[in-house]
This record gives sequence, structure tokens and C-alpha cells, in this order.
Amino acid sequence: MASAVHFYDQQPIASGARSMREEILEGLRAPQKYSSPKYLYDQRGSELFELICQQPEYYPTRIEEGILATMVDEIANLVGQNATLMELGSGASRKVRLLLECLQITSYLGIDISRDFLLESTRKLAEDYPWLEVHAACADFCQRLRLPRNLNCERLVGFFPGSSIGNFEPSGAQAFLGGLHRTLPKGSGLLIGVDLLKDRATLEAAYNDAAGVTAQFNLNLLHRLERELGANLDPDRFSHKAVFNEELGRIEMHLVSTMAQVISVAGESFRFRAGETLHTENSYKYSVAGFQAMARRAGFASRAVWTDRQQHFSVHYL
Ligand code: TRP
Repeated sequence: MASAVHFYDQQPIASGARSMREEILEGLRAPQKYSSPKYLYDQRGSELFELICQQPEYYPTRIEEGILATMVDEIANLVGQNATLMELGSGASRKVRLLLECLQITSYLGIDISRDFLLESTRKLAEDYPWLEVHAACADFCQRLRLPRNLNCERLVGFFPGSSIGNFEPSGAQAFLGGLHRTLPKGSGLLIGVDLLKDRATLEAAYNDAAGVTAQFNLNLLHRLERELGANLDPDRFSHKAVFNEELGRIEMHLVSTMAQVISVAGESFRFRAGETLHTENSYKYSVAGFQAMARRAGFASRAVWTDRQQHFSVHYL
């Protein structure tokens, strides 16, 4: 019989936590319109993101998985015995499968904002690894984490792959790492994937795949606004743009209004000039030393770092 998943729905506990409607409206009222990256990940968005990971131009997934698979014995040594692995933004829970055969962990906690996607993925995981105690928490991992009560938290190791840390502003990334450092008990660790600075062509190709999946992923935000916030707009009047901002060391993802237009969201109107953008996500790139310095400021010590031969991607054990 398949083992069950311990499932938790976490309501935000931070008093500042706001609804999607409030956050989206606030972003649309700003001079540079923006939206939080987390709203890209509804059911459809999570599915499209899995497809992005399979695109030939999107090197981070391939390289990170290569590093995890090759270094799994070293990782197992660092993680030690009887730990709980806590994955932030677990998505399809695919990368963790590269580790599970070798790690001597007793339980796994997947945290993701996309509820049904999380449920389905962790159910499959529990089925495929019957010896593993599987927990799933539907939560926004940017909010303060409330750990499930019946979780063995004596040794809790964080797993944060995919360079999602790059989707924070650097100051936010450091604050987020600081918060994790306070949450993880003494003697724990954090296994984290960080994309590295590199040439513009490689970076821009990764976020403008020829098949147009990243474009669909980005445009799905507009479909979501129609579905969930009763927005009145035509997604065909927007296009996807991803550019490397070299000065700031980040890929920027925008939705470009292809004409002058007025859209309405939750009863409020917003004007776009032709060419004006809605900024949907940043993906900051780091150097190995730059990331280590930030982790140190957040309270972590660097125990190991692995990269591929071309130095395109790094995996750190902190
Ligand atoms: N964490 C991923 C990254 O930064 C998320 C992502 C995929 C993304 N495609 C994107 C972020 C396009 C910005 C633009 O690579």
C-alpha cells in the first residue's frame, strides 16, 4: 500500500501578509509596473516551469542535476544521518530523487505555493520511496515558516535548488538566508543551487527558448489575472521579453504592452503606453565568492561548493 503524505495548509502568519489581489494592484499602480514572481506559479505555471527545465537552452536544470548526481556521496556525508530534508519550492520534487538513494535521511518536507501540484508530486514521491516519511506544506516560503508539529526537526537540512535564491533582490536574498539560518537548528545545513554570472548570449538564450515556453510561462500571469481577479485584458496584446541587465547582474523578465491600451484588474483601470512593461521577475546571477560572502553575512559557513567545468552553475553546502 502506498504510504500517505502528511499534508498541511499553512495560512500566512506574518501580520503583513497580503492577498494576491492587494499585491497585484499595488504593483500595477507603481511607475514601473511589477508583479511578484510567486504569482507565476499556479497549476498551469508550475507545469510550464517543468517544461522550461527541459528546454535545451535552459542550462541551469541540466547542469545542477549533473552536479547533484555526481556529488551525491559527498553530499550524503555532509548531510549525515537521520536528518529531515526540507525543500523550498519543491515543484515536481524531481531533483530530490537524485539524492534519496544515497542520503540517509528519514523524512522529507516539500514546501510549495502551488497546492495541487505539490500534492500530486509528493504523493508520487511517497509511492516511489515507501521507506521515506513524506510531508508537504502548501505555503509561500517567503513568509516565516511554521514547521509541522510532528516533524523530526532535530536535524533539518534545507534544500533550495534551481537558483530560486536569484529571484530575490540581493538584500532580500541575504535577509531570506538569515531567516533560514535562524530556522534551521544548530548543526544543520543548507544545500543550495546558485546560477553564475556568464556571457550575455548564454544567459539570454536560457530565458528566451526557441520553443517559446518561457514566453508562455510569463504570459500565463495575464491568463491567471483573467481567471482569478476578473481582469479585463487581452494577453495577445502583450509579448515576453527577457534581457540581461549587466550592471545589476540579473536577467529581467517583462511583459511588454505591444500597443497603447487600458486594462482593468479587479475593477481598477491601468493604462499602458506602447512598449511599456510589466516587470514580472528577476533572476540574479552571482560569482562563487560573491555568493559565499552573502551567505557568510547571513550567518552561514561555507562547507563545500561544486561547479561544472564551464563554471556555469554552482551548488553550495552551507
Ligand atoms: N529560478 C528560475 C531562474 O531564475 C526561475 C525562472 C525560470 C525564471 N525562467 C525564468 C526567472 C525566466 C526569470 C525569467 O532561472
